[in-house]
Amino acid sequence: TESFMKHTTEVMITAEEIDQKLDILAEQINAHYADSDRLLMVGLLKGSVVFMADLCRRIKGHVEIDFMSVSSYGNEMSSSRDVKILKDVQSEIQGRDVLIVEDLIDSGNTLNKVREMLMIREPKSLALCTLLDKPERREVDVPVDFIGFTIPDEFIVGYGIDYAEQYRNLPYIAKVVPLED
Ligand code: PRP
Ligand code: MN
Ligand code: MG
Repeated sequence: TESFMKHTTEVMITAEEIDQKLDILAEQINAHYADSDRLLMVGLLKGSVVFMADLCRRIKGHVEIDFMSVSSYGNEMSSSRDVKILKDVQSEIQGRDVLIVEDLIDSGNTLNKVREMLMIREPKSLALCTLLDKPERREVDVPVDFIGFTIPDEFIVGYGIDYAEQYRNLPYIAKVVPLED
């Protein structure tokens, strides 16, 4: 597309490093939910699908997965952003231990709103897991329970994360580097 700038990609986090991090995250999550009987992992489409697929296979016991699709757009009346549900979860949330699974927290707007929307349905507990966190970009404070990597404010792709829908299939996380033409 025309908005697509000339660029190259550089590996930032290798597939092996992601793999090791997932073992650590899964250990923390398994310990935290050791007494839970029906954990529900909720991924946000589309970025979280690769992470969800790899993470849920490391979670022990009765686990269910579900997905939500939301769109975020600016609100002219305030500086905040609104989030609309495009596809809701099919699962009952009330009384469940719910773990939201995200690939990346940037401004925090998406997760903040999704968290609020799920809280209204009275889960037994609601926690948040992200593979990547960019704290420098945060606009709204959102409590994150499990974090894979804290990274600087770089333009990244891969492992589910896209640039104009491309690169989600990379098995590693890469930095997008602009090129002169
Ligand atoms: C990206 C990313 C997070 C969100 C983080 O999703 O996957 O979901 O942005 O941004 P925030 O913290 O500023 O809200 P995107 O909206 O690009 O959709 P996608 O997952 O389908 O790529
Ligand atoms: Mn996303
Ligand atoms: Mg995206």
